[in-house]
Amino acid sequence: MYREIASYYDLIYSWKDYKKEAKKIKKLILKYKKSDGNELLDIACGTGKHLEYLKNTFSCMGVDINEEMINIAKKNVRGVSFKKADMITLNLNKKFDIIICLFSSIGYVKTYSNLKQCIQNFANHLKRCGVVIFEPWLTKSTYIEGFPHMNTYDGEDIKIARLNISKIEGNLSVLDMHYLIAERNKEIKYYKDRHELGLFEIDKTLEFMKETGFKPEFLKKGLIKDRGLYIGVKK
Ligand SMILES: C[S@@+](CC[C@H](N)C(=O)[O-])C[C@H]1O[C@@H](n2cnc3c(N)ncnc32)[C@H](O)[C@@H]1O
Repeated sequence: MYREIASYYDLIYSWKDYKKEAKKIKKLILKYKKSDGNELLDIACGTGKHLEYLKNTFSCMGVDINEEMINIAKKNVRGVSFKKADMITLNLNKKFDIIICLFSSIGYVKTYSNLKQCIQNFANHLKRCGVVIFEPWLTKSTYIEGFPHMNTYDGEDIKIARLNISKIEGNLSVLDMHYLIAERNKEIKYYKDRHELGLFEIDKTLEFMKETGFKPEFLKKGLIKDRGLYIGVKK
């Protein structure tokens, strides 16, 4: 997942307004965080695009399961430390004031038991009165099966088309992404990248947050339409 196409990730998502999202995240942190420090951990940070806009306000660290993404993040964001880590088994031996996990990355943990373990890991890595903000993937009722999707990038020296048709297999949404990439003076490249994300219900997620020691909230209006945002303050 994202391995071969890591170097194209920022082009594929060039339409995404990371600056605006980071601004909203900063506002929420200001509202909810009651711990004294300003240490922030971005879990599943990808290429570090949110951290670019957060690093001047907070002391930041990023982790991701994918080494290729981490290597790009290191080039994108100077002065921030990055580490390869899986959010399901995360153990950094350090506590933060803020944890963020954005752009539906939490969906990749696939099962409810992994989801609960991740939320427990968020709690384990937070100081008392610290805040976690995580952006979910869709639920069974908001995910539309059989829908064709297309994302394109049209640069002068590189053109990318990414297509998929949304599928469901049991409790998982399955996105078989087909990439065609045309770069100046090169042969056309074709990649297939399978993404499987759990369709987690809101009630169940809030229940896990309560059970792991958070005062939880779900904001319907988050960063992206239809996804919402979970906020938890560690008791
Ligand atoms: C949609 S990208 C989001 C990246 C970044 N947060 C952003 O907003 O652009 C999902 C990211 O989750 C990472 N990821 C997936 N499963 C993970 C896991 N179990 N632990 C840590 N990172 C994971 C992927 O490598 C990928 O970088």
